[in-house]
Amino acid sequence: MEYVMLVLGIESSCDETAAAVVAGGTSLLSNVIASQIDFHKKFGGVVPEIASRKHIEVIIQVIEQALLDSGLTLDDMEGIAVTRGPGLIGSLLVGLSVAKSISFMRGIPFVGVNHIEGHIAAIFLTEKIPRFPFVALVVSGGHTNIYLVEDFGLLRVLGQTKDDAAGEAFDKGAKMLGLGYPGGIVIDRLAQRGNPTMIDFPRSMKGSLDFSFSGLKTSLLYYLKKRSEPPTDDDLPDIAASYQDAIVDVLVEKTLKAAEEFSLSQVVISGGVAANSRLRKVFYARAEEKGIELFLPPPILCTDNAAMIAAVGDNLLKRGGRDSFSMNAISRWPVSCRFER
Ligand code: KG4
Ligand code: ZN
Repeated sequence: MEYVMLVLGIESSCDETAAAVVAGGTSLLSNVIASQIDFHKKFGGVVPEIASRKHIEVIIQVIEQALLDSGLTLDDMEGIAVTRGPGLIGSLLVGLSVAKSISFMRGIPFVGVNHIEGHIAAIFLTEKIPRFPFVALVVSGGHTNIYLVEDFGLLRVLGQTKDDAAGEAFDKGAKMLGLGYPGGIVIDRLAQRGNPTMIDFPRSMKGSLDFSFSGLKTSLLYYLKKRSEPPTDDDLPDIAASYQDAIVDVLVEKTLKAAEEFSLSQVVISGGVAANSRLRKVFYARAEEKGIELFLPPPILCTDNAAMIAAVGDNLLKRGGRDSFSMNAISRWPVSCRFER
Protein backbone atom coordinates (compact mmCIF):
# COMPACT_ATOMS: atom_id res chain seq x y z
CA MET A 1 0.00 0.00 0.00
CA GLU A 2 1.27 3.48 -0.87
CA TYR A 3 2.42 5.60 2.06
CA VAL A 4 -0.01 8.46 2.75
CA MET A 5 1.49 11.50 4.45
CA LEU A 6 -0.62 13.90 6.54
CA VAL A 7 0.28 17.51 5.81
CA LEU A 8 -0.89 20.69 7.50
CA GLY A 9 -1.15 23.55 4.99
CA ILE A 10 -0.93 27.22 5.98
CA GLU A 11 -1.67 30.16 3.66
CA SER A 12 -1.52 33.88 4.52
CA SER A 13 -0.16 35.59 1.39
CA CYS A 14 -2.88 38.22 0.98
CA ASP A 15 -6.22 38.75 2.74
CA GLU A 16 -7.26 35.18 3.53
CA THR A 17 -5.98 33.33 6.59
CA ALA A 18 -6.24 29.66 5.74
CA ALA A 19 -5.30 26.23 7.07
CA ALA A 20 -6.03 22.74 5.77
CA VAL A 21 -5.21 19.11 6.39
CA VAL A 22 -4.46 17.04 3.29
CA ALA A 23 -3.69 13.31 3.12
CA GLY A 24 -1.40 11.96 0.41
CA GLY A 25 -1.43 15.28 -1.48
CA THR A 26 -4.87 14.54 -2.92
CA SER A 27 -7.36 13.93 -0.16
CA LEU A 28 -8.87 16.98 1.50
CA LEU A 29 -9.61 16.32 5.18
CA SER A 30 -10.34 19.95 6.13
CA ASN A 31 -10.17 23.39 4.54
CA VAL A 32 -10.68 26.48 6.72
CA ILE A 33 -10.59 29.98 5.22
CA ALA A 34 -11.03 33.19 7.23
CA SER A 35 -11.58 36.07 4.85
CA GLN A 36 -10.65 39.65 5.78
CA ILE A 37 -12.77 41.22 3.03
CA ASP A 38 -15.01 43.09 5.48
CA PHE A 39 -12.00 44.91 6.97
CA HIS A 40 -10.64 46.03 3.56
CA LYS A 41 -13.94 46.80 1.82
CA LYS A 42 -14.18 50.40 2.96
CA PHE A 43 -10.70 51.12 1.54
CA GLY A 44 -11.58 49.65 -1.88
CA GLY A 45 -8.65 47.20 -1.76
CA VAL A 46 -6.34 45.25 0.54
CA VAL A 47 -4.45 47.42 3.05
CA PRO A 48 -1.19 45.52 3.74
CA GLU A 49 -0.78 46.54 7.39
CA ILE A 50 -4.37 45.65 8.25
CA ALA A 51 -3.89 42.32 6.47
CA SER A 52 -0.84 41.36 8.57
CA ARG A 53 -2.54 42.39 11.79
CA LYS A 54 -5.70 40.40 11.01
CA HIS A 55 -3.63 37.31 10.13
CA ILE A 56 -1.88 37.42 13.49
CA GLU A 57 -5.19 37.71 15.32
CA VAL A 58 -6.85 34.66 13.79
CA ILE A 59 -4.18 32.29 12.50
CA ILE A 60 -4.02 30.03 15.57
CA GLN A 61 -7.81 29.70 15.68
CA VAL A 62 -7.88 28.89 11.96
CA ILE A 63 -5.26 26.13 12.40
CA GLU A 64 -7.09 24.72 15.44
CA GLN A 65 -10.32 24.64 13.44
CA ALA A 66 -8.64 22.88 10.49
CA LEU A 67 -7.30 20.19 12.86
CA LEU A 68 -10.68 19.84 14.58
CA ASP A 69 -12.53 19.51 11.25
CA SER A 70 -10.11 16.82 10.09
CA GLY A 71 -10.67 14.79 13.27
CA LEU A 72 -6.91 14.80 13.84
CA THR A 73 -4.43 16.59 16.10
CA LEU A 74 -1.02 18.18 15.66
CA ASP A 75 0.49 14.87 16.84
CA ASP A 76 -0.78 13.25 13.64
CA MET A 77 0.80 15.82 11.29
CA GLU A 78 3.93 14.61 9.50
CA GLY A 79 4.84 17.83 7.71
CA ILE A 80 3.85 21.46 7.31
CA ALA A 81 3.50 23.30 4.01
CA VAL A 82 3.40 27.08 4.17
CA THR A 83 3.16 29.78 1.50
CA ARG A 84 6.56 31.43 1.13
CA GLY A 85 5.60 33.85 -1.66
CA PRO A 86 4.68 35.69 -3.79
CA GLY A 87 2.44 37.96 -1.74
CA LEU A 88 2.37 40.75 0.84
CA ILE A 89 5.54 40.42 2.90
CA GLY A 90 3.99 41.21 6.29
CA SER A 91 1.18 38.73 5.63
CA LEU A 92 3.52 35.98 4.45
CA LEU A 93 5.71 36.37 7.55
CA VAL A 94 2.78 35.59 9.86
CA GLY A 95 2.10 32.19 8.26
CA LEU A 96 5.79 31.42 7.95
CA SER A 97 6.53 32.22 11.60
CA VAL A 98 3.68 30.04 12.83
CA ALA A 99 4.78 27.17 10.54
CA LYS A 100 8.34 27.45 11.85
CA SER A 101 7.14 27.51 15.47
CA ILE A 102 5.04 24.35 15.06
CA SER A 103 7.88 22.65 13.19
CA PHE A 104 10.34 23.56 15.96
CA MET A 105 8.08 22.53 18.83
CA ARG A 106 6.92 19.26 17.28
CA GLY A 107 10.11 18.31 15.45
CA ILE A 108 8.31 17.88 12.14
CA PRO A 109 9.63 19.23 8.83
CA PHE A 110 8.21 22.26 7.05
CA VAL A 111 8.51 23.42 3.43
CA GLY A 112 7.92 26.84 1.84
CA VAL A 113 5.60 26.68 -1.17
CA ASN A 114 5.13 28.99 -4.15
CA HIS A 115 1.57 30.34 -4.08
CA ILE A 116 1.17 30.17 -7.88
CA GLU A 117 2.29 26.58 -7.99
CA GLY A 118 -0.29 26.04 -5.24
CA HIS A 119 -3.09 27.43 -7.41
CA ILE A 120 -2.20 24.94 -10.14
CA ALA A 121 -1.97 22.04 -7.65
CA ALA A 122 -5.54 22.72 -6.46
CA ILE A 123 -6.62 20.44 -9.31
CA PHE A 124 -4.93 17.45 -7.62
CA LEU A 125 -7.47 17.76 -4.79
CA THR A 126 -10.34 17.04 -7.17
CA GLU A 127 -11.57 13.77 -8.66
CA LYS A 128 -10.51 14.44 -12.25
CA ILE A 129 -6.74 14.84 -12.36
CA PRO A 130 -4.62 15.84 -15.41
CA ARG A 131 -1.43 14.13 -16.57
CA PHE A 132 1.85 16.03 -16.98
CA PRO A 133 2.60 17.87 -19.23
CA PHE A 134 -0.40 20.19 -19.43
CA VAL A 135 -1.16 23.88 -19.98
CA ALA A 136 -2.26 25.92 -16.95
CA LEU A 137 -3.79 29.36 -16.67
CA VAL A 138 -3.33 31.00 -13.27
CA VAL A 139 -5.65 33.95 -13.14
CA SER A 140 -5.99 35.85 -9.87
CA GLY A 141 -5.78 39.32 -8.34
CA GLY A 142 -2.00 39.35 -8.75
CA HIS A 143 -1.30 37.06 -11.71
CA THR A 144 -2.43 36.23 -15.20
CA ASN A 145 0.01 33.65 -16.50
CA ILE A 146 -0.13 30.76 -18.92
CA TYR A 147 2.29 27.92 -18.12
CA LEU A 148 3.46 24.73 -19.66
CA VAL A 149 3.55 22.51 -16.56
CA GLU A 150 5.98 19.63 -17.02
CA ASP A 151 6.01 18.43 -13.43
CA PHE A 152 5.74 19.72 -9.86
CA GLY A 153 8.15 22.66 -9.70
CA LEU A 154 8.89 22.54 -13.43
CA LEU A 155 6.98 25.27 -15.21
CA ARG A 156 7.62 27.31 -18.34
CA VAL A 157 5.93 30.66 -18.76
CA LEU A 158 4.16 30.79 -22.14
CA GLY A 159 2.32 34.07 -21.62
CA GLN A 160 1.88 36.72 -18.95
CA THR A 161 0.25 40.07 -18.38
CA LYS A 162 2.13 43.18 -19.41
CA ASP A 163 0.26 45.35 -16.91
CA ASP A 164 -2.70 44.49 -14.65
CA ALA A 165 -3.81 41.00 -13.71
CA ALA A 166 -7.32 39.96 -14.80
CA GLY A 167 -8.52 40.08 -11.17
CA GLU A 168 -7.28 43.67 -10.92
CA ALA A 169 -9.18 44.50 -14.12
CA PHE A 170 -12.33 43.12 -12.48
CA ASP A 171 -11.68 44.98 -9.22
CA LYS A 172 -10.81 48.32 -10.85
CA GLY A 173 -13.70 48.08 -13.33
CA ALA A 174 -16.11 47.46 -10.45
CA LYS A 175 -14.69 50.45 -8.61
CA MET A 176 -15.29 52.70 -11.64
CA LEU A 177 -18.85 51.43 -11.80
CA GLY A 178 -19.32 52.12 -8.08
CA LEU A 179 -19.96 48.44 -7.35
CA GLY A 180 -17.70 47.93 -4.34
CA TYR A 181 -14.96 45.47 -3.45
CA PRO A 182 -13.98 42.77 -4.37
CA GLY A 183 -15.14 43.55 -7.87
CA GLY A 184 -14.89 40.12 -9.47
CA ILE A 185 -17.72 38.59 -7.50
CA VAL A 186 -19.97 41.66 -7.84
CA ILE A 187 -19.46 41.90 -11.62
CA ASP A 188 -20.00 38.14 -11.97
CA ARG A 189 -23.35 38.38 -10.16
CA LEU A 190 -24.56 41.53 -11.92
CA ALA A 191 -23.51 40.32 -15.37
CA GLN A 192 -25.81 37.33 -15.11
CA ARG A 193 -28.72 39.70 -15.88
CA GLY A 194 -26.86 41.60 -18.61
CA ASN A 195 -26.26 41.43 -22.36
CA PRO A 196 -22.53 40.81 -23.04
CA THR A 197 -22.73 42.13 -26.62
CA MET A 198 -24.20 45.52 -25.64
CA ILE A 199 -20.85 47.38 -25.59
CA ASP A 200 -17.88 46.39 -27.72
CA PHE A 201 -14.97 46.71 -25.27
CA PRO A 202 -11.48 46.05 -26.74
CA ARG A 203 -9.70 42.66 -26.74
CA SER A 204 -5.99 43.48 -26.73
CA MET A 205 -2.80 41.70 -27.88
CA LYS A 206 -4.62 39.48 -30.34
CA GLY A 207 -2.39 36.71 -31.72
CA SER A 208 0.01 36.79 -28.74
CA LEU A 209 -0.04 34.61 -25.63
CA ASP A 210 0.58 37.70 -23.46
CA PHE A 211 -2.16 39.79 -21.90
CA SER A 212 -2.83 43.49 -21.36
CA PHE A 213 -5.85 44.86 -19.52
CA SER A 214 -4.95 48.55 -19.18
CA GLY A 215 -6.61 49.47 -22.52
CA LEU A 216 -9.82 47.80 -21.39
CA LYS A 217 -9.85 49.82 -18.16
CA THR A 218 -9.28 53.06 -20.07
CA SER A 219 -11.99 52.13 -22.50
CA LEU A 220 -14.49 51.70 -19.63
CA LEU A 221 -13.40 55.06 -18.21
CA TYR A 222 -14.02 56.81 -21.56
CA TYR A 223 -17.30 55.00 -22.04
CA LEU A 224 -18.49 56.32 -18.66
CA LYS A 225 -17.18 59.86 -19.36
CA LYS A 226 -18.89 60.00 -22.75
CA ARG A 227 -22.31 59.17 -21.34
CA SER A 228 -24.48 62.19 -20.60
CA GLU A 229 -25.82 60.54 -17.44
CA PRO A 230 -24.25 58.05 -15.01
CA PRO A 231 -25.41 54.44 -15.57
CA THR A 232 -28.71 53.51 -13.98
CA ASP A 233 -29.48 50.23 -12.22
CA ASP A 234 -31.00 49.07 -15.51
CA ASP A 235 -27.80 49.81 -17.51
CA LEU A 236 -25.30 48.33 -15.06
CA PRO A 237 -25.89 44.63 -15.84
CA ASP A 238 -25.20 45.20 -19.57
CA ILE A 239 -22.03 47.21 -18.87
CA ALA A 240 -20.82 44.59 -16.38
CA ALA A 241 -21.58 41.72 -18.77
CA SER A 242 -19.83 43.44 -21.71
CA TYR A 243 -16.77 44.34 -19.60
CA GLN A 244 -16.61 40.82 -18.15
CA ASP A 245 -16.79 39.23 -21.61
CA ALA A 246 -13.85 41.32 -22.82
CA ILE A 247 -11.77 39.75 -20.02
CA VAL A 248 -13.19 36.25 -20.42
CA ASP A 249 -12.70 36.19 -24.21
CA VAL A 250 -8.96 36.87 -24.09
CA LEU A 251 -8.36 34.44 -21.21
CA VAL A 252 -10.13 31.62 -23.05
CA GLU A 253 -8.76 32.36 -26.50
CA LYS A 254 -5.10 32.66 -25.47
CA THR A 255 -5.10 29.65 -23.13
CA LEU A 256 -6.62 27.36 -25.75
CA LYS A 257 -4.23 28.79 -28.37
CA ALA A 258 -1.30 27.87 -26.08
CA ALA A 259 -2.59 24.30 -25.79
CA GLU A 260 -2.87 24.05 -29.58
CA GLU A 261 0.56 25.59 -30.19
CA PHE A 262 2.20 23.09 -27.84
CA SER A 263 0.01 20.17 -28.98
CA LEU A 264 -1.32 19.59 -25.47
CA SER A 265 -4.88 18.40 -25.00
CA GLN A 266 -5.27 19.07 -21.26
CA VAL A 267 -5.74 22.52 -19.71
CA VAL A 268 -6.00 23.48 -16.02
CA ILE A 269 -7.50 26.82 -14.94
CA SER A 270 -7.12 28.15 -11.40
CA GLY A 271 -6.82 31.29 -9.25
CA GLY A 272 -9.57 33.55 -7.92
CA VAL A 273 -10.87 34.65 -11.34
CA ALA A 274 -11.37 30.97 -12.28
CA ALA A 275 -14.34 31.11 -9.88
CA ASN A 276 -16.09 33.39 -12.42
CA SER A 277 -19.26 31.70 -13.65
CA ARG A 278 -19.12 33.14 -17.19
CA LEU A 279 -15.43 32.20 -17.57
CA ARG A 280 -16.20 28.62 -16.54
CA LYS A 281 -19.12 28.35 -18.97
CA VAL A 282 -17.31 29.84 -21.97
CA PHE A 283 -14.14 27.82 -21.26
CA TYR A 284 -16.04 24.52 -21.19
CA ALA A 285 -17.90 25.34 -24.42
CA ARG A 286 -14.84 26.47 -26.43
CA ALA A 287 -12.59 23.70 -25.09
CA GLU A 288 -15.14 21.12 -26.16
CA GLU A 289 -15.28 22.61 -29.68
CA LYS A 290 -11.51 22.24 -29.92
CA GLY A 291 -11.34 18.74 -28.40
CA ILE A 292 -9.41 20.04 -25.38
CA GLU A 293 -10.05 18.55 -21.95
CA LEU A 294 -10.61 21.17 -19.28
CA PHE A 295 -9.78 20.79 -15.57
CA LEU A 296 -11.38 23.36 -13.29
CA PRO A 297 -11.26 23.09 -9.49
CA PRO A 298 -14.51 24.04 -7.69
CA PRO A 299 -14.66 27.79 -6.88
CA ILE A 300 -13.66 27.25 -3.22
CA LEU A 301 -10.34 25.72 -4.37
CA CYS A 302 -9.81 28.41 -7.07
CA THR A 303 -9.66 31.31 -4.61
CA ASP A 304 -6.89 31.41 -1.98
CA ASN A 305 -6.80 28.38 0.32
CA ALA A 306 -4.26 26.30 2.23
CA ALA A 307 -5.25 22.91 0.80
CA MET A 308 -3.54 23.78 -2.50
CA ILE A 309 -0.39 24.69 -0.56
CA ALA A 310 -0.49 21.33 1.26
CA ALA A 311 -0.87 19.55 -2.10
CA VAL A 312 2.43 21.02 -3.34
CA GLY A 313 4.04 20.57 0.09
CA ASP A 314 3.18 16.87 0.11
CA ASN A 315 5.15 16.39 -3.11
CA LEU A 316 8.15 18.33 -1.81
CA LEU A 317 8.17 16.53 1.55
CA LYS A 318 7.86 13.12 -0.13
CA ARG A 319 10.94 13.92 -2.20
CA GLY A 320 12.84 14.75 1.00
CA GLY A 321 12.32 18.51 0.80
CA ARG A 322 13.06 20.28 4.09
CA ASP A 323 13.45 24.02 4.65
CA SER A 324 15.62 25.57 7.32
CA PHE A 325 14.54 27.92 10.11
CA SER A 326 16.47 30.72 8.39
CA MET A 327 14.21 30.57 5.33
CA ASN A 328 12.65 33.95 4.53
CA ALA A 329 9.46 34.99 2.75
CA ILE A 330 9.69 36.28 -0.84
CA SER A 331 7.24 38.97 -1.91
CA ARG A 332 8.10 38.65 -5.62
CA TRP A 333 9.00 35.11 -6.53
CA PRO A 334 10.03 35.11 -10.20
CA VAL A 335 7.83 32.94 -12.33
CA SER A 336 10.47 32.40 -14.98
CA CYS A 337 11.52 29.03 -16.29
CA ARG A 338 11.84 27.02 -13.16
CA PHE A 339 10.82 27.49 -9.58
CA GLU A 340 14.16 27.41 -7.84
CA ARG A 341 14.37 25.75 -4.49
O1 KG4 B 1 -6.50 33.87 -6.10
P1 KG4 B 1 -7.14 34.97 -5.32
O2 KG4 B 1 -8.15 34.57 -4.27
O3 KG4 B 1 -6.04 35.85 -4.63
C1 KG4 B 1 -4.84 36.18 -5.29
O4 KG4 B 1 -3.92 35.33 -5.28
O5 KG4 B 1 -4.84 37.27 -5.91
O6 KG4 B 1 -7.81 35.97 -6.38
C2 KG4 B 1 -8.47 37.14 -6.00
C3 KG4 B 1 -9.04 37.79 -7.25
C4 KG4 B 1 -9.69 39.15 -6.96
O7 KG4 B 1 -9.23 40.08 -7.93
C5 KG4 B 1 -11.18 38.88 -7.14
O8 KG4 B 1 -11.92 39.99 -7.61
C6 KG4 B 1 -11.16 37.76 -8.18
O9 KG4 B 1 -10.05 36.96 -7.82
N1 KG4 B 1 -12.40 36.95 -8.15
C7 KG4 B 1 -13.24 36.90 -9.16
C8 KG4 B 1 -14.32 36.09 -8.74
N2 KG4 B 1 -14.07 35.67 -7.47
C9 KG4 B 1 -12.86 36.22 -7.12
N3 KG4 B 1 -13.20 37.47 -10.38
C10 KG4 B 1 -14.23 37.23 -11.21
N4 KG4 B 1 -15.32 36.49 -10.87
C11 KG4 B 1 -15.40 35.89 -9.65
N5 KG4 B 1 -16.47 35.15 -9.34
ZN1 ZN C 1 -4.01 33.45 -5.05
